[in-house]
Amino acid sequence: MQDLRDLSFTGKRVLIRADLNVPLNEQQEITDDNRIKQFLPTLQAVLSQGGRAVLMSHLGEPSGVDPKFSLRPVARRLAELLNTDVALAPECVGPEVTKMVSELRDGQVLLLENLRFHPGEKKNDPEFSAQLAKLGDVFISDAFATAHRSHASVVGVPRLFKAKAAGLLMQKEINYYKQALENPKKPLCVVIGGSKVSSKLSALVNLSTKADKLIIGGAMANTFLAAQGLQMGRSLYEPDLAGKALELLGTLARRDCKVYLPVDVVVAPSLSSQGLGRPVPVQEIPADTMALDIGPATSLLYREALHTAETIVWNGPMGAYENEDFAKGTHDMCESIANAHGLTVVGGGDTDAAIHHMQLAHKFSFISTAGGAFLALLEGNSLPGIRALE
Ligand code: 3PG
Repeated sequence: MQDLRDLSFTGKRVLIRADLNVPLNEQQEITDDNRIKQFLPTLQAVLSQGGRAVLMSHLGEPSGVDPKFSLRPVARRLAELLNTDVALAPECVGPEVTKMVSELRDGQVLLLENLRFHPGEKKNDPEFSAQLAKLGDVFISDAFATAHRSHASVVGVPRLFKAKAAGLLMQKEINYYKQALENPKKPLCVVIGGSKVSSKLSALVNLSTKADKLIIGGAMANTFLAAQGLQMGRSLYEPDLAGKALELLGTLARRDCKVYLPVDVVVAPSLSSQGLGRPVPVQEIPADTMALDIGPATSLLYREALHTAETIVWNGPMGAYENEDFAKGTHDMCESIANAHGLTVVGGGDTDAAIHHMQLAHKFSFISTAGGAFLALLEGNSLPGIRALE
């Protein structure tokens, strides 16, 4: 894969695929601009060399053209951060876009409208890829967070370029992944949370071959506890995955990977209960309650298990942290990892949000901008958007 620093940009149209898929509120205001900020170093590297930047991204999941999913707020925020004009094209391909690109001068930026307004993007339509590719002389991908999607701008377009490179964010993401999971300093401790075993089963199976310790939290821990015969009351869990959960525990034991499951949980009558949460040992979950967070004894146990780790990878919250009553386990985990001494790498939107909410981001080695793409790497998959750059 070529390095962005090996290419020259002066006077060239530089077509850049970024992931500017940021969350918006009802008023179309950006509620978290982290992905835009993380993309700036790549954009500035291009502009400072006199490149003419043509940016493309998706935003959300629109079905066809829908003003609610316009990239206009992103263009505005980019302009503020760069302190320069950022024009927004009315669509992503077509005669008007071609004209706007041809009028760009060195050091100027044009953002194409949402790629997913065009049906060719998700279908990886070769005709659409060819139209996009005509807008650049060189291609850069900085969209690590979309690299698990085989869409036109992610795989079709790069295949049409000889002069192509990974952006600085893309390189950083890949390097941290390699340090943390391909060639980790041992012991490697992986913390997995979230609601469903089914959505992370492949990741757990793959991690069982790499991790020295596996810490499990969130509602997915309920499935493991239930599979071991514990009464889970009204807790969410996946009974049909009991067999797979037991099989995985057996595999982990044979591989000498130590597994940590909750020893106590915070229970309440429902997810919306206020002020009714209380910790109980996992052996004593009342029939009319549900487990919604890990308990204090578990937080202590997990902190001790993390203490000796040289590398920690974390994905997924420890409980229903959106309700303050069930956020303590996730907050405790955040603090334990923030205070750990080894390399700490985190991925996934919920985990990232919890860390930012606690204002502890600066204490982590690296927080990935990706959700699905990070999980795909944990599953051991190679990403099509990275392969297309090679
Ligand atoms: C993400 O937010 O995970 C990426 O931008 C990919 O978005 P998608 O899940 O809508 O493809």
